Amino acid sequence: MTESSKPPEDEGINYGSYLALDELLSLQRVRSFPEHPDELLFIVVHQASELWFKLILHELRGLEGQLEASDTLGAVAAVKRLNALVRIVTAQLSALETLPPQRFAQFRGYLGTSSGSQSQQFRAIEAMSGLRDQHFLQVLADHGEIPELVQKALDRPPLQELFNRLLTTHGVTLEEIYVEEHQRPLQMLAEGLLEYEQGFAMWRFLHVQLVERIIGPLTGGTGGTLGSRYLQRTVSQRFFPDLWAVRSKFFKG
Ligand code: HEM
Repeated sequence: MTESSKPPEDEGINYGSYLALDELLSLQRVRSFPEHPDELLFIVVHQASELWFKLILHELRGLEGQLEASDTLGAVAAVKRLNALVRIVTAQLSALETLPPQRFAQFRGYLGTSSGSQSQQFRAIEAMSGLRDQHFLQVLADHGEIPELVQKALDRPPLQELFNRLLTTHGVTLEEIYVEEHQRPLQMLAEGLLEYEQGFAMWRFLHVQLVERIIGPLTGGTGGTLGSRYLQRTVSQRFFPDLWAVRSKFFKG
């Protein structure tokens, strides 16, 4: 933890300038003409989600640092924050549940080929968290050249691996942290990571539900995919296979 440095002398900073509100609030550019009253909601929920994704990526980097420094309690605190952020970004989807299908159809054409599947930050979160399976890599390949943000995330070890290294540093196995009382901090971290995985899966689940509620189960996506049928496949992807697998060890025989 670095000590906070002394701020520069007063530069007339106020609420609006500190938060760059003039810029921020000029970025919601509705495309429909005449303006569709629901397009602003659509844009704001997406932009706000991207802002939360930015913070999630930032916190994931922090978590990586804690794991690499073998700071178990620091990592527990980082995962706790991460889980709060994932809950927030998931809750935002409910605002779009108020968008009826016929009204979305009135301005969907203005989106062109833009699709959430092109979200670089979302892919970077998936890559940092640990997705490396064939389906995921294929999705990346389908979108052309891999963006730098995503490639950097792919080049780093998945969270599961960093967690496993932490266990090695402590000289314990995953199974042992669940039975040895003095390993409770590591167990809390493992459970926090599972909560992160579940929270993320909840976003996926509610997003598919939202998609089906608005465009139906059979309509193709603007990103050229099979729409909800494509999304259904992503729900079963796992960031922490070992954390799921270890449960069955307690139910042998
Ligand atoms: C009206 C509401 C929404 C509809 C109808 C919708 C529709 C879709 C569809 C059909 C796909 C599949 C890919 C494709 O376009 O072919 C998709 C993917 C995606 N959407 Fe949405 N979406 C909505 C809201 C949101 C929101 C609020 C976000 C937040 C950023 C979001 C982020 C994503 C992401 C990240 C993907 C890629 C998911 C993956 O590949 O696992 N979507 N969306």
